[in-house]
Amino acid sequence: MMMNTKNAVQLAVAAVALGTGLVACTKNAPELRAEPNVELIQDMMEQPALKPQDFEPYDRKKASSRLPPENTVPQGYKPYPYHMNPQGAEAALKNPLAGNSAPEVLSMGRGKFETYCAVCHGYEGKGDGPVAPKMLLKPPSLVDAKVVNYNDARIYHIITDGQGVMASYAYQIVDERDRWAIVNYIRSLQKLSKGGAPAAGAQPQGQ
Ligand code: HEC
Repeated sequence: MMMNTKNAVQLAVAAVALGTGLVACTKNAPELRAEPNVELIQDMMEQPALKPQDFEPYDRKKASSRLPPENTVPQGYKPYPYHMNPQGAEAALKNPLAGNSAPEVLSMGRGKFETYCAVCHGYEGKGDGPVAPKMLLKPPSLVDAKVVNYNDARIYHIITDGQGVMASYAYQIVDERDRWAIVNYIRSLQKLSKGGAPAAGAQPQGQ
């Protein structure tokens, strides 16, 4: 086969690139090199600290991520006993802030609601948050009769455990009191929406 000049140049470039690659590989494998590597910029490449999910090759028990010892829980961890059991939660949990609409409670509830819930459920809880138009199953209104009739514990349970396609927000809203403050804030939104609320009997969106 005839080779034109362009092809010959391409071949030569490829050969040089391959050669350089091989040399580089040898240099990076410490057991293959006789001379110490020349490191122009050392940049703390060699250091005793382990990288995330790394381990010490000569002592595999020395790993940067370790499994927790069996039968232990993290400090401060409190199991939630009503996972997938809204009725259990409704019956057992009591709102320690029931009926408390003190400004500090409502402003805490509002802050958390507007950070974690309003994006879907809307700033007034009407199910019209900025991402709602993009969602297949629309976030329901929180100011319609259905949620008005939920007891506080049921709403707390949904924040903690999720419901259907809505995820749990327990990891985002760690403090249980903050979750109850959100419940109280939703109650205040429900009161506000009275009068301007959708006609009685209107179905929440997406139901
Ligand atoms: C990513 C969007 C999204 C976010 C954020 C979100 N939700 Fe939801 N929520 C939904 C959807 C969708 C449903 C309906 C789920 C189902 O039943 O399948 C729902 C259901 C609910 C319900 C039950 C309503 C009913 O009619 O049964 C409540 C109460 C609720 N959410 C409260 C909250 C609160 C409080 C927050 C913030 C902590 C929050 N949601 C955050 C999407 C969201």
